[in-house]
Amino acid sequence: MASRPTPIDADVVSRRTRELGLTDLGKASIREIKKIVDLIEGDTGQKFIRMEMGIPGLPALQVGVDAQIQALKDGVAAIYPDIQGIPALKNEISRFVKLFLDVDVTPEHCVPTVGSMMGGMAAFMTVNRMWADREGTLYLDPGFPVQKQQCKLLGHGYMSFDVYEHRGEKLRPKLESYLKTGKVSSILYSSPNNPSWICFTDEELRTIGELATQYNVIVIEDLAYFAMDFRQDYAKPGQAPFQPTVAKYTDNYILLISSSKAFSYAGERIGMMVVSDKVWDMRSPDLLRFFSSDQLGHSLIFGAIYGISSGTSHSAQYALAAILKAVNNGEIDFVQIAKEYGEKAKVMKRLFTENGFTIVYDKDLDEPIADGFYFTLAYPGMGGGQLLSELFHYGISAITLGITGSEHTEGLRACTSLIKREEFPLLEARLKQFREDHPIG
Ligand SMILES: Cc1ncc(COP(=O)(O)O)c(C=O)c1O
Repeated sequence: MASRPTPIDADVVSRRTRELGLTDLGKASIREIKKIVDLIEGDTGQKFIRMEMGIPGLPALQVGVDAQIQALKDGVAAIYPDIQGIPALKNEISRFVKLFLDVDVTPEHCVPTVGSMMGGMAAFMTVNRMWADREGTLYLDPGFPVQKQQCKLLGHGYMSFDVYEHRGEKLRPKLESYLKTGKVSSILYSSPNNPSWICFTDEELRTIGELATQYNVIVIEDLAYFAMDFRQDYAKPGQAPFQPTVAKYTDNYILLISSSKAFSYAGERIGMMVVSDKVWDMRSPDLLRFFSSDQLGHSLIFGAIYGISSGTSHSAQYALAAILKAVNNGEIDFVQIAKEYGEKAKVMKRLFTENGFTIVYDKDLDEPIADGFYFTLAYPGMGGGQLLSELFHYGISAITLGITGSEHTEGLRACTSLIKREEFPLLEARLKQFREDHPIG
């Protein structure tokens, strides 16, 4: 511990940590970290540099807000939406998938969900129940912790490995070693990856797709950070390059496309679930244990989505339909807007590395990791939990990589979204003091 006072009173940090029953901050979930930081800020009146939660730091796309207000004025609040989504939105999702992924999916199989979170839940509920003799999901980690929580809630098993050391040609044997067990129903990953920001290449996606077909496993591809690999320009509708996707290499896929980060529409909890025509039509008698139909698409809509929430907020569907229409028509360049995250990441990484920190996941195959929504950090001689609690005393919050399934338990994930550029000098001053108080041996 530092001998001079730290920006945040150490007694408050330890009292609040104790009160919340968090004996080890390294194991705390994102929402628990958020809660404790809120409390400490309230107690001390000091603002943290908040890097724990991926809340979009940009305003929601106005075209969505306007359409949603209009829909409410038109009276949709009183009316249950169809569970499978309003036709205008389903059509725009199908168009979006064609224009930005170059993939064909019939509008019927494009379904709005209450965020990608619900899309994942509904996918696990149905896909993982198609084969009674399989265990559940294979996660290509590091990953978004709550997606494992979803499998746990459902009582499904799961397997996982940190994919960082198994990129490129090493991916096939590693993946196959899990698929050969015959226990995997689905594979889940995000690309760009939360938290490491690695992006799978087309070659890797081909490997995943080919193996999914060979072992008849469904890939749940989480595109929460759609087109946010800013090294490429995926923003032009109908023009290559397109956001890389496994859908090019297998028909065994479900895509989760979030509106939260790409369109800054996190608050309304609306996302898109895109089910390949083949998966939609799959049949399995084992589904009848839970659903009235043996067909996956039917079970998804009239079993899972009906049972979870009976559809997705009516007015938010109008918002997303309007956003997608503008984006599909080339009227809004949503990627250009989101580039601000990458610009901030560049500065933040510099501030951290100038003060003794290292970037944990620093390579994307042979290239330096791109600047995006997240980056990862470590400090010499400290484990992730220790580093996080030390940084708390300097008014800096993040989450540990330990909770993401990362092998790098010494590291933290930092999110670039909430910090404002005006706060960079404060971050720099706090990091300088941290370094002085924790000399590197
Ligand atoms: C990888 C990943 N998947 C899914 C989500 C959740 O998306 P949504 O807000 O659409 O539920 C997030 C949000 O941070 C995420 O990082």
